[in-house]
Amino acid sequence: MRYGYFDDQNREYVITQPDTPLPWINYLGCQAYFGIISNTAGGYSFYRDARLRRITRGRYNNVPLDEGGRYIYLRDDESGEYWSPSWMPTCRDLEQYTCRHGMGYTTIGSKYRGISASTRYFVPLDETLEIWQLTLRNDRLTPAAISAFSLVEFCLWDAQDDSTNFQRNLSIGQVEIDDEVIYHKTEYRERRDHFAWFACSDPLAGFDTQREAFLGPWRGWDKPAAVERGNASNSHAHGWSPIGSHHVKLVLQPGETHQIVFVLGYHENAKDQKFDPPDSQIVNKKTVKPVIARYRNKANVDAAFEKLRAYWDGLLGVYQATTPDIHTDRMVNVWNAYQCMATFNMSRSASFYESGIGRGLGFRDSNQDLLGFVQMVPERARERILDLAATQLPTGGAYHQYQPLTKKGNNDIGGNFNDDPHWLIIGVAAYLKETGDWSILGEPVEFDNQPGSAQPLYEHLRRSFHYTLERLGPHGLPLIGRADWNDCLNLNCFSDTPGQSFQTTTNKEGKVAESVFIAGLFVLAAKEIAAIAQRRGLAEEAKNYLASGARMEETVRQHGWDGEWFIRAYDDSSQKIGSKENAEGKIFIETQGFCVLAGIGLEDGRARQALDSVRKHLATPHGIVLQQPAYSRYYLNLGEISSYPPGYKENAGIFCHNNPWVIIAEAMAGDGDNAHDYYSRINPSARERISDVHRCEPYVYAQMIAGRDAPTHGEAKNSWLTGTAAWNYYAITQWILGIRPEYDGLRIAPVVPERWQGFEAVRKFRGVTYRITVRRAGKGNGVSLTVDGKPIEGAVVPPPAAGKTEVTVEVRLG
Ligand code: BGC
Ligand code: NOJ
Repeated sequence: MRYGYFDDQNREYVITQPDTPLPWINYLGCQAYFGIISNTAGGYSFYRDARLRRITRGRYNNVPLDEGGRYIYLRDDESGEYWSPSWMPTCRDLEQYTCRHGMGYTTIGSKYRGISASTRYFVPLDETLEIWQLTLRNDRLTPAAISAFSLVEFCLWDAQDDSTNFQRNLSIGQVEIDDEVIYHKTEYRERRDHFAWFACSDPLAGFDTQREAFLGPWRGWDKPAAVERGNASNSHAHGWSPIGSHHVKLVLQPGETHQIVFVLGYHENAKDQKFDPPDSQIVNKKTVKPVIARYRNKANVDAAFEKLRAYWDGLLGVYQATTPDIHTDRMVNVWNAYQCMATFNMSRSASFYESGIGRGLGFRDSNQDLLGFVQMVPERARERILDLAATQLPTGGAYHQYQPLTKKGNNDIGGNFNDDPHWLIIGVAAYLKETGDWSILGEPVEFDNQPGSAQPLYEHLRRSFHYTLERLGPHGLPLIGRADWNDCLNLNCFSDTPGQSFQTTTNKEGKVAESVFIAGLFVLAAKEIAAIAQRRGLAEEAKNYLASGARMEETVRQHGWDGEWFIRAYDDSSQKIGSKENAEGKIFIETQGFCVLAGIGLEDGRARQALDSVRKHLATPHGIVLQQPAYSRYYLNLGEISSYPPGYKENAGIFCHNNPWVIIAEAMAGDGDNAHDYYSRINPSARERISDVHRCEPYVYAQMIAGRDAPTHGEAKNSWLTGTAAWNYYAITQWILGIRPEYDGLRIAPVVPERWQGFEAVRKFRGVTYRITVRRAGKGNGVSLTVDGKPIEGAVVPPPAAGKTEVTVEVRLG
């Protein structure tokens, strides 16, 4: 069953009924001002940091889940009947409801009793504000007297404090109203120099800023007293709960259209110019007023929207493919790339599954995210890399997370996730291959943001690498620390106290438990850092990295191989995990995928054997589960992984993040059918037809799909903010379609299904547009390339002569 359809032409997903199984959301904003918006206009906004600079409220764990948002109420002033054109919160039986989620905007349209309403929500580029562009049309045969009310509920900035510290917060709310603009200025009188504002293009019949005055006592968002009455009360919030609501009255003739623009913004003033007059407590509006005036003008609003469209055309234009599979095309050309930008902007902070008050930017996560977005915004990737590296500790280890607003490592979580440092090497390598910008390696970057500690970025990579060499366990494999990629395999935790954090509790010394996964990651990192060293003229150093990598590979062969697949780890008693010797958790996906991806076993047949074992033991029609058999009870020595009921999350759920490791491994092993088959099993577009089972958005990946041990096998959860986005994008674009940036050019080495007769792609790479046509001439994966009509040796297209910006590549595959 479906709840909508893809409008491929317009790069939109169109939802045709409001009661989707879960809120199906989109993101607004792509620079500093952000919001999440659901298909019923739910969600909230923030400036840079969802926790520390929240502009509007989100309520967690609410029923229904998606309540509170960017609401508009319409009222027929003759009959007194009122409704929400976004369905929520009044939930009337709308006619012709559609929600179009597009690239950085969402348009919700509906009709009720002959009144059509369509609201386009978006954040203009280079501004810290959002626009709600409401178009009303009277489709009746008689004039219609209509009231429109807008509604936002302000958050008192720190979202965590806002949702807990009521004894203070119910007394501090402050607003100002000036020139019909509502200013939210809680705490501005003391240490904040920012405020929010909410303006409307049309003259107001009234306004409200106090929640209770708008709603009336004991009422919810579904029947505000002001709307029911047809009159706002011009309330001024003093404490309690500041809101912003405008009331506009109109009369529409039959067939008449009218547009109202509501604008919600965030603004900062210089510290010494906060008030006007300076000795007053009145917000200085000198710098914000021109911004407000700009967007009260509808022509500017339309121009801003066109600019946003052009921006996305530019980003998505970096890689476009036409293949025999529509689901591949949709994800590559639009949605997967778009999701990669969301993970870049949000990391794992704000979605319907991430509260925005929990996690900041993860070191591991954000480095991996680079694989998916570096080609679209290379300058911002550069900045992100430098920010991440500055949270690295002098030991080479890293803070596991940092807050985007302060860019400082998060002490609550700390470090010691022993895979973390290597992702920096992987991320930097991806950046270098894409951009060729070697200057980044010389950038001075502090350790732990400590003044005076700066070293060139390259030194950070060195320390990342050495971090593992200094932390090897009894078998010569890397010690796992708190956890590796699998945050829930907590082998030094041994927690028997309810509620204790698995992520931060460490009850063991950590000198025994080892990770075969980190070993695989280390082997890959060794190859990457060696290639970088080699190109920097450090041949000796490069040799040493390769030698360390080769030693680790040998160790994996000796102690990381179980006969038919790679072992996962050794626990604190040096017992194997992920081995046939175990009763549960005999085989894990991570090491099968990652060891092969690092090149281990490709020559001696073990890679093929490991991948066959994946197919035999882990593959389901909904994707590849994380391990089997699922843990049926809690194991003190394993930690959080066994805390989940079987089939969910890390306990044998289908973790969509590491499915692409197997997909890439299959491509490396030369099996395009297997690779694309696994790719399709979790491709959200390919799962659209089972939306009632999948339940999450059909246009973006979810972190997890319930595994075969779960009673809800096939049900997705935790959509949007997941490493799944980058890894799937990387797998399909670089390994299946095989168009891969390398230091010396663009490699073209597709490993596609045998039945594909070919495909076409356009790839922009270092300022050059490559138009690539692949034609199958035989069964295999061998390629012969013709570049601008001339055959070349090998599979790497070298950069063209200076000044040339268009290159045509014909590929014979077989
Ligand atoms: C989740 C993991 C996640 C970790 C982050 C755990 O509860 O299962 O997927 O990586 O929290 O802190
Ligand atoms: C989600 C986390 O964000 C990521 O860092 C981790 O690798 C996976 N879960 C697996 O535990």
